[in-house]
Formats: sequence, structure tokens, C-alpha cells
Amino acid sequence: MIKQLRKLIFLAVLPYLLVKQCDCNLHRVKPFSHVAKEIARYADVAKSIIDLAVNGKAQNRSYNRLADFTDTVGNRVSGSQNLDLAIKYVYNGLRKDGLDNVHLEPAKIPHWVRGKESAVMLLPRNHTLAILGLGSSVGTPVGGIQAEVLVVESFEELERRAGEAEGKIVVFNQPFVSYGETVEYRELGASKAARVGAVASLIRSITPLSINSPHTGWQDYEVGVRRIPTACITVEDAQMMGRMARRGQKILVHLSMEAHTLPDADSFNTVAEIKGKEHSEQANISNFDLVMESDMGTFAPLGLQFSGNARARAVMREVMNLLQPINTTALEDHGEGTDIYMWMDAGVPGASLHTANRKYFWFHHSEGDTMSVQDPLEMNLCSALWAVVAFVVADLEDMLPR
Ligand SMILES: *[C@@H]1O[C@H](CO)[C@@H](O)[C@H](O)[C@H]1NC(C)=O
Ligand SMILES: *[C@@H]1O[C@H](CO)[C@@H](O)[C@H](O)[C@H]1NC(C)=O
Ligand SMILES: *[C@@H]1O[C@H](CO)[C@@H](O)[C@H](O)[C@H]1NC(C)=O
Ligand SMILES: *[C@@H]1O[C@H](CO)[C@@H](O)[C@H](O)[C@H]1NC(C)=O
Repeated sequence: MIKQLRKLIFLAVLPYLLVKQCDCNLHRVKPFSHVAKEIARYADVAKSIIDLAVNGKAQNRSYNRLADFTDTVGNRVSGSQNLDLAIKYVYNGLRKDGLDNVHLEPAKIPHWVRGKESAVMLLPRNHTLAILGLGSSVGTPVGGIQAEVLVVESFEELERRAGEAEGKIVVFNQPFVSYGETVEYRELGASKAARVGAVASLIRSITPLSINSPHTGWQDYEVGVRRIPTACITVEDAQMMGRMARRGQKILVHLSMEAHTLPDADSFNTVAEIKGKEHSEQANISNFDLVMESDMGTFAPLGLQFSGNARARAVMREVMNLLQPINTTALEDHGEGTDIYMWMDAGVPGASLHTANRKYFWFHHSEGDTMSVQDPLEMNLCSALWAVVAFVVADLEDMLPR
């Protein structure tokens, strides 16, 4: 009884202790005007970084480096040999640049290998469908799967017509609304189709614009549901099959995919710091001032999306003012990103680059995503914004409040 009581008291007190400790860590909070003045003193530094990236010796450097990197290494699926090459390339490049404390950290990552894949429509006419298997999809049996197609435009239609799905290949021909909404079909389509008895699923690519280009991406099998092969097809082929189905034409498709999920691969993440706040331990987030992600394209920058507490936001607003020379001072909400959320969940402030990315999903996860769609002058502006924010935040006397 006493033991239980002690446990209860401990549990009740623990959150309080954590809060107290956080307060202690913030020792002597400076008045904000002091921080604002400190940041204003970076105006010349910011101007010289901007000038270097936009007009000076570093003009087009990020474009040229990205071109060298992608031309040399190519695509880099998680766990692949190319990913190892890519990590070594970045590691060597950062060391050559003389950055402090560049090091590799071991990490376990999923390793999925795409093999040969093809899909051919046999009825109502012969036609090769351009496909890309979705990440984590199982393969087909040797010899492939040949089955009639059921075309649906939504999950609701699939539910309504569940009785027709047994043994079929379900084609999802959902209209594109927005990436955030429509990507559900790629992520969940296979399991929804499997639940009603389908043998495979083909998903219309998640893009507002297509020139017959499949766009791939990750998908998630539901636990406890049969895993069926799944791939994306082009908007054009999905729409064509939709028209054929409405005419009452029988559609027959032969799908063949080799894909393997291998035991998790050992890999390394490259970590570099702009300035010397030393790590006492590899993943000690107490030392992480800010995590930044640029994952929505490097078109003309509009500003920075940020998530952190009100005091951190006030600091960041001052930092963004330093970007007046390139008119990208906007500090917006929602700094979260898929590659930084784990640190943000642990309390580290996060930021994401916001660009004029209207065309982003035209190329996203497709073979069309190449250097040809990058603009060196827009990349100069992105680099300037990124470098000013990273440099100033890292160099400030105090870490961002959290
Ligand atoms: C940077 O790229 C732009 C656009 O392609 C070009 O006009 C300019 O000459 C390039 N600058 C350098 C230094 O190569
Ligand atoms: C369609 O393809 C099948 C199998 O590849 C072949 O046997 C058939 O002759 C083709 N039909 C036409 C009309 O080309
Ligand atoms: C993490 O870093 C902080 C600040 O440098 C330090 O006080 C703390 O002891 C470190 N924690 C661990 C587990 O190393
Ligand atoms: C600066 O950015 C704002 C907001 O994006 C825009 O409305 C304005 O036209 C820009 N001014 C210049 C001089 O580019």
C-alpha cells in the first residue's frame, strides 16, 4: 500500500519536475530588446551572405553542386548502394569545405528493392501501361497476375461496388484535389482494394499535371490485411480506363512486378554543423537549436515556415528581417516536415522553406524530376535565405527558447 502510494506521488510529481527543469534550463531570460539588438547587428553579415550567393562567387553554386551530385550519383532509394555513394559524396564535400564536426552516424533504414515491372492492357486493345511500383509493395507471383479491371473514382465507390472486386485489379481513378488529400489513395489504396478481394491495385498518379508520367511514392499496408502488389499508373491511362469502363468495355490487364523487402540495411546519416556548438553525445537534442527541412522544391523563396513557442517565434521574426535585401522576410506557421518531425516532437523548433511551388507536384516522384526543372537563379535565393537563417540562429548567444 505504501509502495503504491509512493508510486502515485512519484507519477504526480514527475511532470512538475520536468517543467521545473525546463525552467532552470532557461536561466536568466534576457529581455527581448536585447536579443533584437543582437540580431540587428547581423545585418551586414546577412548582406554579405546574400551578396555572395546571389551576385558573388557562390552564384549558381547550389545549382552546380546539385547537378554534379545528381548526375554523378543518380537516384538514391533508401538502403540502396546509390544511397551509400550519396552519403559519401556529401560527407566528403562537407569536409572539403572545411565545416566543423562533420561525421557519420549509424542508422537502420528500411531496404526495399524495385525489380523489373511492367503492365500491359490486353483488352479492349493491346496497350503498354507506364507504371512505377509503390514503395514497400510486394511483387507479383512469377509469371505475373492477369485479371479483369474494376475502375473506381473514390473509396466510397469501392465500398459501394465491393461485391464486384473479387479477383479483380482495382484501378483507382480519383481526381486530383490537393496532394495532402489525394495522396490517401496511394497510401491506403492497396489495402482498401485487398479488403474487398482484389488481387492487385493500380493508382492514378498523385499529380495535377501529367505528360503520361507515372509518379511513385510510399504506401502503407494495413496490418492484418492481405498484401497485394500495387503500382501507380499515369493520369492519362487511368482516365482512359475510366472511359472504357463507363462504355461497358471489358478491361483485361497483365501485371508483373519484382519487388523485395530486405532486412533493414545499415546506413549512415551525414551530420554537419555550421558552427562549433560541440556535440557531447551523438543525438543529444538538448544541443539542437533548430531543425530545418527543404522538402517542397527550390523555386523562388517566399519565406520560412516555423513551429516553436511564442518567444522563439519573436526571435525568428527578427532573423527573417535580415532577408529584406531579397524580400523574403515572411515568417509563417507550420514548420513541420516529414524528415524533421522526430526532433520537433521532442521539442526542437522546426522550420521549412516555403517557395513558389505551384509546379512542384508536376515533377514530384517521377522520372521528370531532373536538373532541367531547376532554376539556378531561384536556387541562389533559396541558398541565401537558408544560409542566413542557419548562420544567424547558430551564432546567436542563446539557443532558441523552447
Ligand atoms: C548563373 O546562371 C544564370 C542562368 O542560367 C546565368 O545567366 C549566369 O551567367 C550564371 N552565372 C555564372 C557565374 O555562371
Ligand atoms: C495483343 O497481345 C497479345 C499478347 O501479347 C497477342 O497475342 C495479340 O496478337 C495482340 N493483339 C493485337 C490485336 O495486336
Ligand atoms: C546533452 O547536452 C546538454 C547541453 O550540452 C548537457 O547538459 C547534457 O548533459 C547532455 N546530455 C547527455 C545525456 O549527454
Ligand atoms: C516583396 O514580396 C511581397 C510578398 O511576397 C510582394 O507582394 C512584393 O511585390 C515584393 N516586392 C518586390 C519589390 O519584389
